[in-house]
Amino acid sequence: ATSDKSNKRQVLVPGGAGYIGSHCVIELVKDGYEPIILDNECNSSIECIKRIQQIVGCDIISYKIDCLDLESLRDIFRKHSIYAIIHCAALKAVGESVQKPILYYRNNIGSLLNLLTCMEEFNVKNFIFSSSATVYGTPKYLPLDEKHPCIGDAIVNPYGKSKYMCEHILKDTTVAHPDWNIIILRYFNPVGAHESGLIGESPIGKPNNLMPYIAQVIVGRLPHVNIYGTDYDTPDGTGVRDYLHVVDTATGHTAAMKKLEENCGLKIYNLGTGKGYSVLDMIKAVEKASGKTIVCKEHPRRSGDLASVYADPTLAIKELGWSAERTLDQMCQDLWRWQSNNPNGYL
Ligand code: NAD
Ligand code: WQD
Repeated sequence: ATSDKSNKRQVLVPGGAGYIGSHCVIELVKDGYEPIILDNECNSSIECIKRIQQIVGCDIISYKIDCLDLESLRDIFRKHSIYAIIHCAALKAVGESVQKPILYYRNNIGSLLNLLTCMEEFNVKNFIFSSSATVYGTPKYLPLDEKHPCIGDAIVNPYGKSKYMCEHILKDTTVAHPDWNIIILRYFNPVGAHESGLIGESPIGKPNNLMPYIAQVIVGRLPHVNIYGTDYDTPDGTGVRDYLHVVDTATGHTAAMKKLEENCGLKIYNLGTGKGYSVLDMIKAVEKASGKTIVCKEHPRRSGDLASVYADPTLAIKELGWSAERTLDQMCQDLWRWQSNNPNGYL
């Protein structure tokens, strides 16, 4: 096996061609790491990797590999001396997960198990995992802190359950490997795009999430925004969420990379702003950033949706020295720049 010549710490990023992973890759380069993208492109494209290289001004090592292909994964670990893994590869469409639970459990849990197998075989001890506020189920209190119970039966879709199960696999793994450092990051609602307008969210098919949906309406790809539920117990009746800029989400990962150096063992952090905005707030904010008027249609609640979800971000502030810095206006301005420059995403 050839050993790698790079003197930079190599960080494997499964899902690195995806929305959050691509923004993480950029922050890793800025912080002096050498990211290695691993992506099967089931929800992304090689074009994103080209854009990343344009932004950072250097080549990025990348492999079009499925994390479910253990032998191909092993080849990567033989070829490179991996310092850490930032695992962003997963299927994440909640609605689809209800229709295709076997696909979701196999992909999301199988990918994790293969990566952990390679960590054992190649003596890699540092791992950062993309989890989700969805593991909290229906909030018993707000804001949500990391002590809030996570009860599997309270999670109503296979996607969310797959994240919950992955967290338990990681907790059990740290018992078996007390010298490993595993940081679980529970993202709330990452939105927006890199300020360059060169990369952003480009879901294949109709977007499930609010902000990419609004983005496609403002560029004319979709006729109107559907507002699911106007009778929630919230200030204006529409759902409230903790939206954070995707670049802030990415800097949460480089802050976690520094934490790994403290031999931190297992740590769990929310990545959120601590502030909730409603659907109507977000629509108004995008209208302000784009100068466009957004047509909306009201509908009954979407099954499985919650009224209000927002983070208590204080643990990440205290232990990672990280907080979300970008404003709602910046989230919407960056979203508008990305989508108006790329009406069809990377296609
Ligand atoms: P995304 O779909 O843009 O990125 C995921 C990437 O992983 C895609 O490029 C896809 O091609 C790749 N991928 C999926 N399965 C793979 C496999 N088996 N092998 C190799 N590559 C594979 O999604 P995202 O929004 O960037 O999410 C990244 C991570 O963050 C996911 O784990 C997701 O569950 C989690 N997350 C996302 C959000 C959100 O709102 N976007 C919120 C919480 C958690
Ligand atoms: C936000 C708000 C909707 C779409 C999901 C996953 C979560 C994570 C983030 C991966 C809600 C309303 C939405 C639309 C609407 N993904 N809405 N019209 O549901 O908070 O979280 O994505 O990990 O796991 O559950 O995000 O963007 O889908 O919805 O009115 O077309 O917008 O009811 O109040 P959500 P979302």
